[in-house]
Amino acid sequence: MIIAIDGPAGAGKGTLAARLADHFGFAKLDTGLLYRAVGLKVIQAGISLDDEHAATEIAAGLQASDMTDIAMLRRDETGNAASCVSAFPGVRAQLLAFQRDFANAPPDGAKGAVLDGRDIGTVVCPDAAVKLFITASTEVRAERRLNELQNRGLEAIYARVFEDMKARDERDEGREASPTAAASDAYVLDTGNLDAGEVFAKVLEYIDSKT
Ligand code: DC
Repeated sequence: MIIAIDGPAGAGKGTLAARLADHFGFAKLDTGLLYRAVGLKVIQAGISLDDEHAATEIAAGLQASDMTDIAMLRRDETGNAASCVSAFPGVRAQLLAFQRDFANAPPDGAKGAVLDGRDIGTVVCPDAAVKLFITASTEVRAERRLNELQNRGLEAIYARVFEDMKARDERDEGREASPTAAASDAYVLDTGNLDAGEVFAKVLEYIDSKT
């Protein structure tokens, strides 16, 4: 069984994916991490974020070891680079097979997989049994992100976080190649007024009703 979770940054996809994977004993793939790893390598190599050819070559050569420096991968600068390189069809094409293989043959004999990203229900796994689109207003997501940064002891101001998030959403939703979108058969959930436990409970109820 495949559970596809899509939605914009900061909507709560990651937390939900972890809870669902834990609950069902499924393998979990955070597909944003793949794009982040490409973006980070592009930055570290001093290559322009406009260079589709170079970014595609980097995506083609991606190794598991490129996914280990979680602190660097999670930085906002890396997220923005990921958003830039993820607009290139060549980069997306290089990462597609890995994602599909993970979904269809999850590691460690797991009976199912949970993948979260932007195009899982629409492009990567259009036949997924469960498709979720998790969203919230830009204001709510920026507020959550600000709290997260401040809790980690980092200096951040709301206006800057909000503008960065808006710019990233516009790029991810506006690109031609696999933009952020809800599949026509996705369960769309606005998490604005819900905490993580409530989101999980609503989604479990939905999955129960479907299966
Ligand atoms: O989910 P995230 O913030 O870690 O993703 C980083 C960027 O990667 C995001 O801005 C767009 C891109 N991405 C994508 O295009 N497709 C996916 N399936 C996952 C992420």
